[in-house]
Amino acid sequence: MFFWGRVLQVRLRNWNRRYCIMRHLLSPLDFSTQELDALFELADDIEKDPARYAHVCAGKKLATCFYEPSTRTRLSFETAMLNLGGSVLGFSDAASSSASKGESVSDTTRVICCFADICAMRHPKEGAAFVAASHSSIPIINAGDGGHQHPTQTLTDLMTIHALKGRLGDFTIGLCGDLKFGRTVHSLINALVRYENVKFKFISPEELRVPDYIIEMLKDKNIPYEEVISLENCIPELDLLYMTRVQRERFFNEEDYVRLKDFYILDKAKMSLAKPDCLILHPLPRVNEISVEVDEDERAVYFKQVQYGVYVRMALILTLLELA
Ligand code: CP
Repeated sequence: MFFWGRVLQVRLRNWNRRYCIMRHLLSPLDFSTQELDALFELADDIEKDPARYAHVCAGKKLATCFYEPSTRTRLSFETAMLNLGGSVLGFSDAASSSASKGESVSDTTRVICCFADICAMRHPKEGAAFVAASHSSIPIINAGDGGHQHPTQTLTDLMTIHALKGRLGDFTIGLCGDLKFGRTVHSLINALVRYENVKFKFISPEELRVPDYIIEMLKDKNIPYEEVISLENCIPELDLLYMTRVQRERFFNEEDYVRLKDFYILDKAKMSLAKPDCLILHPLPRVNEISVEVDEDERAVYFKQVQYGVYVRMALILTLLELA
């Protein structure tokens, strides 16, 4: 009886995989705020009792298909799956995959589905993860698509804010640096507009302003925002400051990058103007935009953010594989 029950379960799962709508994470809006609450609760439980989750993914495989460089996101996903007792496979460079011979994202995805149970994909082209998802029988996680979105960084950012501020809402957040090309910025704004009483300060040079489509969205929703150039003038008002690097890889010419790369440098002098409980976040990698002298300030939480990223990715893997 148990045997046939098990056969039926496996057949149903395969049928579901083939014919039902697969749950992916392509945009931070793919999860409702209630689902995010549940995800953060699970991540919190994982942090408190990791041993309970150490074998939940035994026999499961995560593929990391990274067509663009990464340290945190790829290794965080791999750590998350290993912590859950699963295994990992994948590539960290388009040049070492058959993309270098001309294979399409959709064909590669079909192939990955034969090997793995879930896939995290990073790609330089906007929309690549959406293409993958539309040809996939396994959950696809967008690990960054060009200058568009980076939803799991947003989960990490939200979890950090929730854990360290105790709330998601009722604050003024400054986003500073490359607001044009920074996909983590676009994803975070999209996610935060769903919470109450969030005010945005966009701090950037004219050339790196937040894209018009985001400004239009904020206007449509009547969300308060201000675009400013001076970090010094703005920093005293902030409850959270989200620093970003200038995205060299998305510039059309090196001259512009060199001119803009050190436009903002957060140092001790500027930190002295910030509120005593203003948290400093950064998706990392940092280049020069936060001086290393700020690292010892207890308001600087960007390395704690990395640790939260592992817990929240563990929770995400469990949720998408329906093992939570
Ligand atoms: N934050 C982030 O996406 O870092 P990596 O590029 O190192 O993955």
